[in-house]
Amino acid sequence: MSRAAVLCGLGGALPATAVTNDDLAAELDTSDRWIRTRTGIGVRHVVAPGEATSDLAVRAGQEALASALRAGGQDAAVDLVVLATSTPDRPCPATAPDVAHRLGLPGVPAFDVAAVCTGFVYALATASSMITAGVAQRALVIGADTFSTILDPDDRTTRVIFGDGAGAVVLRAGTADEPGALLGFDLGSDGSGADLITVRAGGSRQRSSTEPPGAGDHFFTMDGRPVFTRAVLDMSRSSQELLDRIGWKAGELDKVVAHQANIRILHAVGGQLGVDEDRIVANLDRVGNTVAASIPLALRDAVADGGLRPGHRVLLTGFGGGLTWGSAALVWPDLDPR
Ligand code: ACO
Repeated sequence: MSRAAVLCGLGGALPATAVTNDDLAAELDTSDRWIRTRTGIGVRHVVAPGEATSDLAVRAGQEALASALRAGGQDAAVDLVVLATSTPDRPCPATAPDVAHRLGLPGVPAFDVAAVCTGFVYALATASSMITAGVAQRALVIGADTFSTILDPDDRTTRVIFGDGAGAVVLRAGTADEPGALLGFDLGSDGSGADLITVRAGGSRQRSSTEPPGAGDHFFTMDGRPVFTRAVLDMSRSSQELLDRIGWKAGELDKVVAHQANIRILHAVGGQLGVDEDRIVANLDRVGNTVAASIPLALRDAVADGGLRPGHRVLLTGFGGGLTWGSAALVWPDLDPR
């Protein structure tokens, strides 16, 4: 049986401060009703001043490592850390080495992957490939973002959607017939849509300009309607391509865990695939869109509430800035995330 990366640990972390829709309606021209009906979101969590992406990543990583230990994974030490984030602690250096250091993993290779909301799937594919190639034996893959630190406080379209958080999994070397084995990936990008989801300032493009940065150029911006359309299209197409490649039918899926962008997007993807709503995992009512943390946090909540169980056929699919998209498939293993 061929060598494969096997998921064997799961964890997550949210900041303490919860922001309800009514909290936002008190300061912006919006309402609990609009946010719930247009996005499905009820509450999101935001970091405290001084709290950074790495702080959440470390907590999620600790929980995932503890979960892997409980699942019987005392055989090998983690020898790779991949952190998906587009809100690193600072532009340089990468945040992953600091996270690895604080997790007590000295000397391990550690790097960031930037694919915005698709970051976790890209990081999972990267770590999985390094394990199957024999470069690593056991990897910690974290998705962590703190978009509250880059949102325009006056932009109601983004303030209502995004929340902060971190989610993590542990992968180990194993074989493709084991529960938890990552069975395949589909990844893609379309840079012609780079301006649809962007932060204009803070990179090399702006320094080469003769113009000083504009007042709001460090804020995140998103063109919601075309992003909505592309999210549905690209997650559906990517999911179907992966299913065809690994020989699964959509009707055989027990759970679809898609990037938690908007409940209407999740249901539209389900509709495109022919997967009914009770097989679509949704936790965005509790956490909002947590960007790279979204898929592992949705997995963690689905396990905790009993909806995702060992033996389930699971499809993961994400879409985000870049534009980027990606999907992965596995049979869910027996895990105890908390
Ligand atoms: N409260 C009240 N009204 C609002 C709000 C709000 N928070 N936001 C927008 N509106 C208004 C608009 O001004 C507009 O008013 P108008 O008709 O008078 O012009 C109306 O509501 C409809 O606006 P739309 O933009 O068409 O609203 P839509 O239903 O598309 O919802 C949203 C907007 C939630 C942003 C949606 O487009 C969306 O979810 N987009 C995709 C987001 C996504 O998938 N992101 C994933 C990738 S993100 C990443 O990678 C970081």
